[in-house]
Amino acid sequence: MKPEIYIKDLKNHAGETVTLKGWLYNKRKSGKLRFLILRDGTGLLQCVVFKGSVSEEVFAKTADLTQEASFEVTGTIRAEERAMGGVEMDVTDFNILGESVDYPITPKEHGPEFLMDKRHLWLRSKKQMAVMRIRHRIVKAIRDFFDERGFTLFDPPIITPNAVEGTSTLFETPYFDLGMAYLSQSGQLYAEAGAMALGKVYTFGPTFRAEKSKTRRHLTEFWMVEPEMAFFDLDDDMDLAEEFLEYIVQSVLKDRKEDLITLERDVEKLEKIKRPFPRISYDEAVKILKKKGHDFQYGDDFGAPDETVIGEDYDTPVMIHRYPAAVKAFYMKRDPENPELALAVDVIAPEGYGEIIGGSQREDEIELLLERIKEHDLPQEFFEWYLDLRRYGSVPHSGFGLGLERTVSWICGLDHLREAIPFARMIYRNTP
Ligand code: 4AD
Ligand code: MG
Repeated sequence: MKPEIYIKDLKNHAGETVTLKGWLYNKRKSGKLRFLILRDGTGLLQCVVFKGSVSEEVFAKTADLTQEASFEVTGTIRAEERAMGGVEMDVTDFNILGESVDYPITPKEHGPEFLMDKRHLWLRSKKQMAVMRIRHRIVKAIRDFFDERGFTLFDPPIITPNAVEGTSTLFETPYFDLGMAYLSQSGQLYAEAGAMALGKVYTFGPTFRAEKSKTRRHLTEFWMVEPEMAFFDLDDDMDLAEEFLEYIVQSVLKDRKEDLITLERDVEKLEKIKRPFPRISYDEAVKILKKKGHDFQYGDDFGAPDETVIGEDYDTPVMIHRYPAAVKAFYMKRDPENPELALAVDVIAPEGYGEIIGGSQREDEIELLLERIKEHDLPQEFFEWYLDLRRYGSVPHSGFGLGLERTVSWICGLDHLREAIPFARMIYRNTP
């Protein structure tokens, strides 16, 4: 039943007769010739049907083939330099497998809402397939990067009793007799337990934020990878983040350039993503904003427009460190040189893509952590297990979180995060 061969492998099969299976991407005709563009998930192939080479019945059937109908086709593979993928097929036989009547997505322009309503079908288009393949390559690069460096994959729970990043963006769910439970915003606190057991760990999975913000950069369900390392300080953390981003981008360039070209991505911009990245303090970043005449209140967190302005002078991501502690999470360690500041880092992607990484050194002293929990009005009883990590062999440690969809969006050059994940969840959308 399964195809004996896929389009991506045809290059070395010139002269052979093969049978392929897939869907009709497009077709055109010219006199005695019909050109069927077959899509099989691995690529596109032009199948040439010549009236003189097939039975009359087969030739007649080509007329019935409509966009996205599924079919199997047999023919001889011929090297053809000008063709996509370098080959074409001269068809000898073909069969329609599944009809496709009035396929709703036609080559004409459709609005984004229409396409999102038809996301289950939109995924079959050339650009969306390219994004999905690049996403897959990024996921693989993420795993390879940590696996090659002695990290252990460590899966945190998704159902949790408490907030990590602040209580305002939690999805609630009733949990039997135990009251409310929440969908995880971040696996970090659990990763810290993992790091105290295994040294270097990373979590990688879906996280949830009930953000009310309707922006191009926010999903309510998104994937995050969170490395956490014992005995790493903020500088070590930034070194790792920098090496990590370079690795991801260079892996995509190496293996998925064709997809980047399909997306019309300016590949030269990605080629410049090489270490070292600039490291500037929050104070320096504020000075940049002021110097550019950008309206900004010292002490606030940076918003998307601020990040764009800070990042616009650089070809690489920029690391901003040492934020006012007041705008950052409770678990961050204070800067010993200035306790008003947190040992935090945000990494801003170039070209206006904004924050892709947030991280920090963690507070490792129990007394200070208890103070923070009180200041943030967090229920201490839920954090007792987390406090134990400071009671029993506490060590300096650090980590960060990379948003997968923000990274995909930046590398692919997308306008909106909704195209960076198969089925986006946003404030106004939870279908299909
Ligand atoms: O900066 P955030 O909130 O950091 C954390 O969650 C830490 N616990 C990470 C850590 O230190 N282990 O989120 C990290 C990253 C952001 O930089 C961004 O890329 C992404 O997650 N992110 C989102 N992506 C899509 N939609 C949203 N609503 C996002 N919120 C954060
Ligand atoms: Mg952040």
